Amino acid sequence: MSERSRVVIRGFEARYYDELLNLLSLWQYPRFIKHVIGNETEVHEGDKIAELGVGNGRNAILFAKRVKEKGSVVGFEISIDMIEKAQKKTKNFSNITILRHNILEPYPEQYENFFDIAFISFVFHGLEDYEKEEMLKHLKKILKPGGRFYILDYNQIDLKKAPFYYRFFIKKLECPLAFEFLSYPLVDTLKKHNFVLKNRYLHFKDLISYSEFVYTLG
Ligand SMILES: C[S@@+](CC[C@H](N)C(=O)[O-])C[C@H]1O[C@@H](n2cnc3c(N)ncnc32)[C@H](O)[C@@H]1O
Repeated sequence: MSERSRVVIRGFEARYYDELLNLLSLWQYPRFIKHVIGNETEVHEGDKIAELGVGNGRNAILFAKRVKEKGSVVGFEISIDMIEKAQKKTKNFSNITILRHNILEPYPEQYENFFDIAFISFVFHGLEDYEKEEMLKHLKKILKPGGRFYILDYNQIDLKKAPFYYRFFIKKLECPLAFEFLSYPLVDTLKKHNFVLKNRYLHFKDLISYSEFVYTLG
């Protein structure tokens, strides 16, 4: 992973991930993510869902409840600290599997053409541009044609027009890749890989975007 990234979560941050996220969002995050997964994501009972960079499993549980027993959620994660947290948090869900996997590398063969949905939340911005391309290349092998790909991340905005606290957060607390992501050609890059934008939802005064792409196979 790039040294310009801060997206692999370990140690203290891993241990208190939920608490830190809740604090940073002034306790709005739990309600927000429930709304995004519950109302802005097209999920059917029985769907198979891949979460790339599953973190501590909070999102995976919300998805597992929607796909019910017939469906399944596989969470791919690189950090052992986060894997331990996710396995503990999701232990009562028989339809969730947490796997150690770097999303910049090819997936295990059994997942080829397997998933109806892929979801990535606050990971994409932390990849170098060439890594984003790698990630998409491997993702296309595991997503079914017509499958949906959801990206929750910072929105592309003019930082000069953003509230001061957000400018401070991006410049002082986030990694350089997050700052660059604010001018990243997200929709065009995804289109080059045959992911066509279907819906885009904006949140937190347009600072955060949730984009739904459909994988069209070219
Ligand atoms: C900011 S956290 C977001 C976690 C979760 N998606 C969420 O929204 O709560 C990013 C997660 O992606 C994981 N991650 C970063 N790079 C990865 C990679 N190349 N492969 C797999 N997981 C990765 C990190 O370790 C971390 O758990």
